[in-house]
Amino acid sequence: MDFELSDEQQLIRDAVREFAEAEVAPIAAELDRDHRFPTELLPRLAEMNLMGMPYPEKVGGAGADYLSYVIAIEELSRACASTSVVVSAHSSLATWPVFKFGTEAQHERYLHDMASGRRLGAFALTEPAAGTDAAAGTTTATLHADGYALNGSKMFITNAPYAEVYIVFAKTDPERGARGMSAFIVEKDTPGFSVGEAEHKLGIRGSSTPPVYFSDCRVPKEALLGAEGDGFKIAMATLDGGRIGIAAQALGIAQAALDASVAYAKERVQFGKPIAALQAIQWMIADMATEIDASRLLVYRAASFLDSGRPYSTEGAMAKLFASETATRVAGKAIQIHGGYGYTESYPVERNYRDAKITEIYEGTSEVQRMVIARSALR
Ligand code: CAA
Repeated sequence: MDFELSDEQQLIRDAVREFAEAEVAPIAAELDRDHRFPTELLPRLAEMNLMGMPYPEKVGGAGADYLSYVIAIEELSRACASTSVVVSAHSSLATWPVFKFGTEAQHERYLHDMASGRRLGAFALTEPAAGTDAAAGTTTATLHADGYALNGSKMFITNAPYAEVYIVFAKTDPERGARGMSAFIVEKDTPGFSVGEAEHKLGIRGSSTPPVYFSDCRVPKEALLGAEGDGFKIAMATLDGGRIGIAAQALGIAQAALDASVAYAKERVQFGKPIAALQAIQWMIADMATEIDASRLLVYRAASFLDSGRPYSTEGAMAKLFASETATRVAGKAIQIHGGYGYTESYPVERNYRDAKITEIYEGTSEVQRMVIARSALR
């Protein structure tokens, strides 16, 4: 067992850290405060090859492994969790199914532009009445002579309306439940497609999460991704990898909260000495550091399994479950260490706390991760 990153992975970590500290961290508080999507960062992220990291260079990606990709998400998340979810929803939820299940023509039309960051992607699975029970979606896709007509609505769609390419899950055979769901690639300017009002969220306020609507939205037959009826499996397989990305996001948020706490504990003087000298603070720091390290091992292991072609669904679920709950716990302790100041916008830990919570919810709640893990353990 080798716990060292390769030279290339370390170089990627250092480069992304430098970029995130120089260009992302300085605007993170403002993006959060103003609920502002980081539009100006998208060309820079593309230039840095961060929009399609785990895809081969010949299709427009960076040709890196998945472990490098999650390290990049971790580093971006230390600076700004809103920015990192833009990248991770685009890379692992929108681009991956096109890469994995797309035809050559679909690769030609979408993959290059998505992996290189020229066109932003989004993943539209969740509906107002179908969140955890994703197979219960009621959006339909009806086959006509010249293609499919999509009708229904999707909710909490990360990257809309900025995304130009949407992976949409709709029922082609509603009677068959999960087996009647199909996946489609829908372009933003398709008539009948529209985007609603952005949600006002507790955290990751710089990311955009509006509903999207389909009203007799006509797409050609070539928009079908995979075979008819394969949509649910495509969604689940996509989320298997996406969850490792969210676990990495949680890890980065937790690391940011620990870094801020260590710095604060060393400078804040109470009872005539820095609070870092107090055992009450030391124990909190020790627990935070240990849990973050355990998260990192789980996250990197899941990514390594993916890279080596081993099954990674359970490992990804474990990584997301543990890292997300760790992030919330660690960010809570970070506020405690900062005392009253931690509850204000004077320090980043209140943002870390608000941002951490969503990692326990999106791409499958902690309860869903436990379902996945339990099904595997009890098999
Ligand atoms: N890979 C491939 N196929 C899979 C799979 C996987 N990981 N998991 C399940 N399947 C297959 C099953 O084998 C089964 O196939 P058959 O019909 O051939 O037997 C089929 O899918 C149905 O599987 P289940 O019976 O397990 O399905 P279920 O209805 O019990 O659902 C669930 C299980 C785990 C709860 C699932 O619905 C789920 O993961 N829900 C959460 C959805 C989710 O994560 N949503 C996130 C939205 S996206 C988001 O959050 C993005 C964002 O904003 C950033």
